[in-house]
Amino acid sequence: MANFNRPTTEIAHVYRGTFIHSTEQTALLILEDALLGVDTEGKIAFIGKGAERDRLSQTFGFSLSEITQLAQHEFFMPGMVDTHIHASQYSFAGTALDMPLLQWLNTYTFPVEYRFKDLEFARRVYTQVVKRTLRNGTTTACYFATIHTDASLLLGQIANDFGQRALVGKVCMDMNNSAKYYRETLQECQEETRRFIAELLSKKYPLVKPVVTPRFAPTCTDALLGQLGEIAKNNNLHIQSHISENLEEVKLVMGLFPDSQSYTHVYHRHNLLTDKTVMAHGCHLSNEELTLFRETGTSLSHCPNSNISLCSGLLNVRNVLKHKVKLGLGTDVAGGYSASMLDAVRRALDLSKILAVQDPENKALTFEEAFRLATLGGSQALSMDDHTGNFEVGKDFDALRVNVAAPGGPIDLIQHDDGPKTLFEKFLNLGDDRNIVEVFVAGRKVVPFTEPTPE
Ligand code: GUN
Ligand code: ZN
Repeated sequence: MANFNRPTTEIAHVYRGTFIHSTEQTALLILEDALLGVDTEGKIAFIGKGAERDRLSQTFGFSLSEITQLAQHEFFMPGMVDTHIHASQYSFAGTALDMPLLQWLNTYTFPVEYRFKDLEFARRVYTQVVKRTLRNGTTTACYFATIHTDASLLLGQIANDFGQRALVGKVCMDMNNSAKYYRETLQECQEETRRFIAELLSKKYPLVKPVVTPRFAPTCTDALLGQLGEIAKNNNLHIQSHISENLEEVKLVMGLFPDSQSYTHVYHRHNLLTDKTVMAHGCHLSNEELTLFRETGTSLSHCPNSNISLCSGLLNVRNVLKHKVKLGLGTDVAGGYSASMLDAVRRALDLSKILAVQDPENKALTFEEAFRLATLGGSQALSMDDHTGNFEVGKDFDALRVNVAAPGGPIDLIQHDDGPKTLFEKFLNLGDDRNIVEVFVAGRKVVPFTEPTPE
């Protein structure tokens, strides 16, 4: 029996073929010969069986000739959710991975982020990162920008222009003794954050929202953290930051905030742990801290490429899931060198297998679980699972049309009768943007880009 909402809006598109997604109960659900309808608002109106098409067409008032049929090696999967990416660092992605975190920030990162006071430089980099991530299947991104309000607003505008769902954060830091040129005063941080939020909200972009962004405890005074906690609370906003990425950083935080019993408590004291908070990394959190994450509804963004590339630590994903902490994946460009969420899936699998080698008690993640983290898990981590993450009726149609046999693509199909699960596993492990032939966000086709593109 088809699953559908009472038809209140008109159907804009109907697709027939294989749909693959995750639910809370099942990490990998494959619906073969399914029929999915998208309404004029970009929401999923129904998902049923191909054989039910006559009844569905009568109920929803579409004609059978309007149905788009997928080819044999094609399927739809939900768009991926990058829960942590520094848009401003895209300019040096793929380089500068030879230092641990704190030295890496001072040597490579702060000098590059400083350049975003130049709006033309910002426009170039932000256009490229939005296009690159969309092409690689990131339909939702949670972005760090820089301390510059106008450039951060520009990132919001570019994401909106290209049709990406995004949270955009103007970075806040009022303490940075190693790079005094790259910080604001407490008052500037407060005023500029308020301006950023007000101006971004005033644009009324349907899919782009501000996120309150203290960079991390070592660059924020207690006073700033307190003010940002209040701003987020008063405006019911998302919050993002970093936590317990590397041991030197944890030690630094415990020295800077001697009154706090843990790194997690530094944020908790200032009301920064909420059910709309996502913290990146968490490699070195204790079980007590994970419990506090669960109790406050705070989520974690697991960024395996970055954690390996900067030799930061190895997050035990099984332990996080055991504590029932919401969890998504992040690329953490440019600490992570790849902007592709497929890379994040693969690195998450590799890393969990390394932990399993070290201790067989650590059961490795399955590819099905890693897929769920990249889609539904990410949407839950950003508290956006009412709108995106899978193909439930009523959610927005955020989807990738994948052709595993795309001409000129990276996958050779030897057995042409491979079933959809095998094709899907090949795509997750071997595929790239050549296989992602179309990308939809809220029902709108955003890849291939419609010409002329803004840049
Ligand atoms: N901690 C504070 N800032 C950053 C950053 O830009 N990247 C990473 N990986 N960790 C951080
Ligand atoms: Zn980061």
